[in-house]
Amino acid sequence: MGLKSKSLKEKQERKRQQASSIPSFGKEQAERHFNKYHTNPQKIWEKSSLDAEAARLLLLELERRKSKRTAKYLLDDKFKAQTGFIKDTARMKAALCTRRAGKSFGAGLYLCQTALENPGASLLYIALIRDSAKRIMFKDVLQVIDRKYSLNAKFNQIDLTMTFPNGAVIYLVGMDHSDAEAEKVLGQKFKLCIIDEAASFRRDLKQIIFSTLKPAVADLAGTICMIGTPGNFTKSYFYEVAEKGEPGWSVHKWSAFDNPYMKDAWQREIDELTEINPRIQETPWFVQNYLGKYVIDQSKLCYAFNRDRNTVPEAPPHQMLHVFGIDLGYNDATAISVLAYSHEHPRVVVKKVFKQSNMILSEVADVLRSMMQVYNPVRMRVDNASKQAVEELKQRYQLPLLPADKQGKADFIELMNSEFINDKISLVAGMTDELATEYENLIWDDRAPRRQEHPACENHAADATLYAWRDCKEHLQFTFKPQKTPEQLLDDWEEKEAERIDRLKNMEWWEREFT
Ligand SMILES: Nc1ncnc2c1ncn2[C@@H]1O[C@H](COP(=O)(O)OP(=O)(O)O)[C@@H](O)[C@H]1O
Ligand SMILES: [Mg+2]
Repeated sequence: MGLKSKSLKEKQERKRQQASSIPSFGKEQAERHFNKYHTNPQKIWEKSSLDAEAARLLLLELERRKSKRTAKYLLDDKFKAQTGFIKDTARMKAALCTRRAGKSFGAGLYLCQTALENPGASLLYIALIRDSAKRIMFKDVLQVIDRKYSLNAKFNQIDLTMTFPNGAVIYLVGMDHSDAEAEKVLGQKFKLCIIDEAASFRRDLKQIIFSTLKPAVADLAGTICMIGTPGNFTKSYFYEVAEKGEPGWSVHKWSAFDNPYMKDAWQREIDELTEINPRIQETPWFVQNYLGKYVIDQSKLCYAFNRDRNTVPEAPPHQMLHVFGIDLGYNDATAISVLAYSHEHPRVVVKKVFKQSNMILSEVADVLRSMMQVYNPVRMRVDNASKQAVEELKQRYQLPLLPADKQGKADFIELMNSEFINDKISLVAGMTDELATEYENLIWDDRAPRRQEHPACENHAADATLYAWRDCKEHLQFTFKPQKTPEQLLDDWEEKEAERIDRLKNMEWWEREFT
């Protein structure tokens, strides 16, 4: 009892002290002054009996109250999914949504709300590139919110910042190329960082989040969010978090049907699309963008590998020749793929795939030697890109390596694909899992000008296999020309002979004599 009343007393005393630092000033009068002179204490001082310092304090307090009030009604009660995401108190949050679900607008509301509630705070909005940050957020979202809620923020087009009257600043940056674009702001402490278009990042978001953003939000106990729409790219941290679940992350999922401002237009759009193509709802594009679910569009995959068609439980028993394909890497994995072919059958079998990161050359040499003992390869093809490493393996470790042919990679992948489709390439189940996983996730880069693999997808085992397959193919192409039967050979000879006699008949005597 005693304790309670004491703390109450203390509270009251604190309040009284605070109040005395702000001179009494009629509420209406204060609002009037505030609206008229806004952020100018000098003017308030001139127009009232307050001294400059008191006027400044009063302004600050009024600003704080106004911001708090605005922050409250910024959140949209009609839009439960969006508001639920913003209100979630987790420190790491992800939103996996369809297109038009209100992700970006929600991000804008969230940033503004946090800015209003935290005078002087810094907040960060991250898009793929600066241009997309400007396009998605600056004009279409932040300036709209500013006008709609009369926030009186100042926008700087050059620095891409939005500065609030209470001193809070939202910074907009692009970070998928490098940290360079964001370098100027990355030294700060942030209350909130939102990564938009998170499904499309090629840089490793896990690394950006844990080594760059996490330390920057630590001081203010800030929040980090990733938002995005699913695509074909499943080797991303966003996919891991949103689809598989990672500790520490709170995941929200909603669609444009949950967005009260889009619901009807969205249904109309789906109806129109379905009318044009009744089976559109089965396409991966529809599932990704309209249902917000991760599926891989098979047509976007680089390799036409199909687990059911192209795996065999074990290698065929007959004698085969072995070729190794080798892709060297240190941070990236070193991959070794063992392919087998025979001159009796046009099928190539991938018997074994080895893949491991952080191996030094002597370890690679050891692995190669022990694999050579098992498979006794006729040739070993290596990616010659790191000449020094290859020379060392050849000279110091006496490994008979041959350079892999790397010209026209995309064309050779297509050639290999027709072999996958025609069931001419098989992977031995259980021995080649890393390769199968790469094949099932490796997609073409839809942002590259030429046909090129997505730079963030793993392709080391696939590359090693391609080197060895090109070698096998070269040695197989003469073996399996269709053989003609004796009757066909005789028919061919007769046809040719008839043509020759015809020709002779039609010639003048001097042509016959002199040719
Ligand atoms: N809270 C909101 N209040 C008003 N309009 C909203 C709200 N949230 C989203 N919208 C509107 O819904 C549409 C889609 O939102 P947007 O954020 O662009 O979606 P996404 O980024 O998910 O594609 C936009 O026209 C946007 O203005
Ligand atoms: Mg968006």
